[in-house]
Amino acid sequence: MSCIEQSPPLLTTDCTREVSIDWLQPTPSKAKQKKLFRQQIMSVSYDQNELLQNIIELHLPEGIQVDATYGYGQFYTAIPRPEYCFDIAPKKPEAVVADSRQLPLAAGTIRSIMFDPPFVVTNHKTSDEYVMGKKYGAYRTITQLREHYKASLDEFARVLRPYGMLVFKCQDFVHGRKNYFIHNEVLELAKEAGFKPVDLFILLAKNRFNGAVNFQNHARKFHSYFWVFKRSGKKDQD
Ligand SMILES: C[S@@+](CC[C@H](N)C(=O)[O-])C[C@H]1O[C@@H](n2cnc3c(N)ncnc32)[C@H](O)[C@@H]1O
Repeated sequence: MSCIEQSPPLLTTDCTREVSIDWLQPTPSKAKQKKLFRQQIMSVSYDQNELLQNIIELHLPEGIQVDATYGYGQFYTAIPRPEYCFDIAPKKPEAVVADSRQLPLAAGTIRSIMFDPPFVVTNHKTSDEYVMGKKYGAYRTITQLREHYKASLDEFARVLRPYGMLVFKCQDFVHGRKNYFIHNEVLELAKEAGFKPVDLFILLAKNRFNGAVNFQNHARKFHSYFWVFKRSGKKDQD
């Protein structure tokens, strides 16, 4: 048998072969392997704070500079509050009134933005979606949602510096018995606005409002997305 066929490879003097350094390292103990695994930043989590900390650690070491839809400021229990907190209907004293489609910021000046727009489309007055809509805002139509997302992305491309970062939280949903894969739409809109996808995190939910249903066509969504985008290096989006 030639040394090429031997397994595992042996160091011999009678043939030349590259020996992988990895192969020479001792296999880590089970306990060490477990520790190494735990240190990895993973793409999914049940814990929003952990997920946000991971986004900051991997992609935004200087933190978030602007939150364009600040709401109740729930994102900032484990990560520092942004320098600018905006919301069209502020719920907290630290937030300033501003529309995400027209931010009071000069072009090309911002390092990073967080965007968590309303994710509910509903006409219902009694459903669980309406409860969420009341708390977090809601759109009447899918077209309204798309227009808001698109105009906001164009505005973020305006105010961000070249290579500035955007974190965009979004959710897929079923509306009128149809599945809307909004995270895909957000990706396409972001690319059109001059952003590149850098990462994608998935927040898992253990519970959801338990709306009663007579029938079910699609899986109930128990997750939402945090896209991480980087603005193009060009100053003008041509
Ligand atoms: C899903 S909530 C954000 C929740 C927030 N991340 C928190 O931690 O509480 C969406 C927020 O977007 C705000 N909003 C809706 N339309 C907006 C717009 N055009 N410009 C700025 N904020 C808007 C709503 O008032 C609402 O507070």
